[in-house]
Amino acid sequence: MSDANLDQYTMPNYRRYDFSPERGEGSYLWDREGRKFLDFAGGVAVCPLGHSHPEVVQAIQEQAAKLIHVSNWYQIPQQGELAKVLVEDVLGIPGKCFFGNSGAEANEGLIKIARKYGIAKPAADGTPRHEILTFTGSFHGRTFATMTATAQEKVHGGFGPLVPGFKYLPFNDVAALEAAITPNTVAIMMEPVQGESGIMPATPEFLRAAAKLRDQHDLLLLLDEIQCGLGRTGEFGGWRAIVPGDEILPDAISWAKSIGSGYALGSFWARKRPVGDAAGTDLCDILAAGSHGSTYGGSPLACATALATLKVILRDQLQVHAKQLGSTIADTATSWELPILKAVRAFGCMIGFELNGPFIETKSNGAMPSIWIGQLCLDAGLLVVPAGPNVVRWLPPLNATTVEIEEGLSIFKNVLESVADR
Ligand SMILES: Cc1ncc(COP(=O)(O)O)c(C=O)c1O
Repeated sequence: MSDANLDQYTMPNYRRYDFSPERGEGSYLWDREGRKFLDFAGGVAVCPLGHSHPEVVQAIQEQAAKLIHVSNWYQIPQQGELAKVLVEDVLGIPGKCFFGNSGAEANEGLIKIARKYGIAKPAADGTPRHEILTFTGSFHGRTFATMTATAQEKVHGGFGPLVPGFKYLPFNDVAALEAAITPNTVAIMMEPVQGESGIMPATPEFLRAAAKLRDQHDLLLLLDEIQCGLGRTGEFGGWRAIVPGDEILPDAISWAKSIGSGYALGSFWARKRPVGDAAGTDLCDILAAGSHGSTYGGSPLACATALATLKVILRDQLQVHAKQLGSTIADTATSWELPILKAVRAFGCMIGFELNGPFIETKSNGAMPSIWIGQLCLDAGLLVVPAGPNVVRWLPPLNATTVEIEEGLSIFKNVLESVADR
């Protein structure tokens, strides 16, 4: 039954399943009636260690008992420590971080850095460059600038006028990207693996072309790693799951979701590289004192939570484990040979199952295939996330066990077979 207070007192913007989780532990959630569910939605890629991981809980309890929040007017050593882990251990590329509260806020930061860069490095006639190229199928957030950056009309619907300065291009189309660059272009912004539109990876050629064009035209390469970052794809960098190692150097990266195990935290990083202005500024120092901020961003509690989360991922090399889980899932699901399943795209613990939408619609009474299959999985005890009309997404914890993955695969296969038999 849906929650009466939610219905009466909260805005109707979310399409919610009729499911009310009460408790979580590891890869499982329990509802109010005590029913157990295998959670491969993970808050939509938010829980890399599953629910209520003991080391994260302990870090939260200890930090909350000491100090929850102080303003960024003061020294916050946990923030410095977290930035150091991100720069040195997660990325291994010199640069600096900023902390906010969400993915959209992190992407706002990328956009603000691009605007500053366009002023520092204007077009030949001295006009600041401000156009950012983004791609069909992208999702960058719901604030005004990030909604505009998102090249999906359904996200813009009814909110115009949008923010100026974005141009939309077909994803993975190198020729279109080359042709789109003008003297006003300042940045290329993309998710290396698009999440919301159904686990759609950039091709290696496209990523390489973007980096080359960045160099040729003095642009910034901005990577939205909010969903695909921090080990989820099997690498500490979603782009490294496409082009391994350090062949491609991003200029700035945004993170959120997994970073805080569910405690609201977002971050963006910019590379240490000279902007080339008269003052000798590095890109990572382009947001000078007073130019950007966030009241809650990088609080001691948020940072302690993220530090505990990253410590476990790094210590246990969970990105390696995630990669193995992704291979197991892809190998098993592709061997099913179910006509209802058209393709499986697995990047570590970021997996898209592309469904035969028209066939499912003949069974679903007009319901959107991904949402309907999500409901059938929920009824069967497995939580998954729709991604577009025809893709079901799995975002299991990076520390899920092989047994849990096998359990999920078995439930999912039964659901798909039951649809075929209807
Ligand atoms: C790739 C990507 N960017 C940005 C966002 C926005 O993050 P948030 O909802 O935390 O603002 C999301 C959320 O789904 C996302 O998947």
